[in-house]
Amino acid sequence: MTEMEAFFALQEGLPRQGPGDRASLDAALAPLDLPRNAQILDAGCGVGADIAGLLAHAPEGHVTAVDTHAPFVDLAGNAHAGDGRVTAAARSMLDCAGPYDLIWCSGALYFLGLEAGLAWAARALAPGGAIAFSEPAFFTEAPSPEAREFWEGEEAAIRTAPAIRTACEAAGFAVLSAFPLPDAAWEAYYAPMEARVAALRPGAAPAMEAALDAALREAAGWRAAKAETGYLMVTARKV
Ligand SMILES: C[S@@+](CC[C@H](N)C(=O)[O-])C[C@H]1O[C@@H](n2cnc3c(N)ncnc32)[C@H](O)[C@@H]1O
Repeated sequence: MTEMEAFFALQEGLPRQGPGDRASLDAALAPLDLPRNAQILDAGCGVGADIAGLLAHAPEGHVTAVDTHAPFVDLAGNAHAGDGRVTAAARSMLDCAGPYDLIWCSGALYFLGLEAGLAWAARALAPGGAIAFSEPAFFTEAPSPEAREFWEGEEAAIRTAPAIRTACEAAGFAVLSAFPLPDAAWEAYYAPMEARVAALRPGAAPAMEAALDAALREAAGWRAAKAETGYLMVTARKV
């Protein structure tokens, strides 16, 4: 087992694969007058933690849930088996052409890079459609070494909230709301992760040990730096 395989084995047993919760989803979608039959893309859905919340906002609509990691998609599909409003597919969001009324992208747009992600979203959205996405952010112009280290070498790509807004506007979006994802949304990810780390620890192989240690380091690192860094939850309409 490689450390990457161990990382996925840890993640596949979690209720979600990144920070987020129902209250944050509701807050992000509040500025939108989403039609009851909205066509929604859950881009980078993980095991599908947000699908039920999305359907609550569009009870006669459809959620296409995609992720590049096929085992996540299988879990998402199984959780909604028999619900004709949900399609789960192992696919890159870049291969999803839409048109969608809403692209929901919790903790996954940055895999494409913000500009490339927004350009793809603009193409995949229906006229007047919107994207709601959570994006790594610094909440200060001068982040401490602890806040920078949290991003493990990726810190050069992390922007402040005003810079993320500027990027959205440059890509042809009007920002309707933008708020730091609250602590509860992060704990909704880290608390189950810590419980699973404890369960997997006894007798863990070296690669799994390393993945478990990295997971605990990540949670501790976020708690130490959370005043300065986290995710900005952005809702923006294509203009
Ligand atoms: C931080 S996780 C968030 C998962 C889920 N949205 C959640 O909040 O629980 C990011 C997810 O994006 C997926 N991903 C990365 N690049 C992707 C792409 N190009 N298309 C679709 N999914 C992608 C990863 O496999 C991973 O499951």
